[in-house]
Amino acid sequence: MSEDLVKAAIKARTGAHAPYSDFFVGCAVESEDGEIALGANMENGCYRLGVCAEQSALAAAQIAFGLDKVVRLVVVGGSHAADGSKPGEPVMPCGGCRQAILEAASLSGRDIEVTCCDHTGKQRVVTSISALLPAAFTFEKG
Ligand code: THU
Repeated sequence: MSEDLVKAAIKARTGAHAPYSDFFVGCAVESEDGEIALGANMENGCYRLGVCAEQSALAAAQIAFGLDKVVRLVVVGGSHAADGSKPGEPVMPCGGCRQAILEAASLSGRDIEVTCCDHTGKQRVVTSISALLPAAFTFEKG
């Protein structure tokens, strides 16, 4: 993953709407042509309607270049109050987001690189959707 993609995810995080959890997450998705789509978590007073950053970014990616073109993504997160200079724990995608990332991987047949970072982008876990979601559910029509 490139440093630019980490920076893009950090920038996306500033667009999060997370007044209920105070946990701000940003995500940047890159296409095989180097295009970048951004997303951030979007909470709602009706809690269950909240949307994760990864799903928000994947929706933007579908519109911008198509889910089948996704090659990698970066997710960054941490509490709003977190001191920008102090590293925290990398944010690992929730189970639902793993399934959403797998949808993109299934369309292209390629594994997707997933980089999980703290809010500073300094603490990182670099992994892949096949490692994050083994023995996954897949659906083929017909
Ligand atoms: N969140 C994400 O955006 N992505 C994840 O993979 C995990 C959780 C958001 C949802 C909610 O707005 C906040 O983080 C706290 O759970």
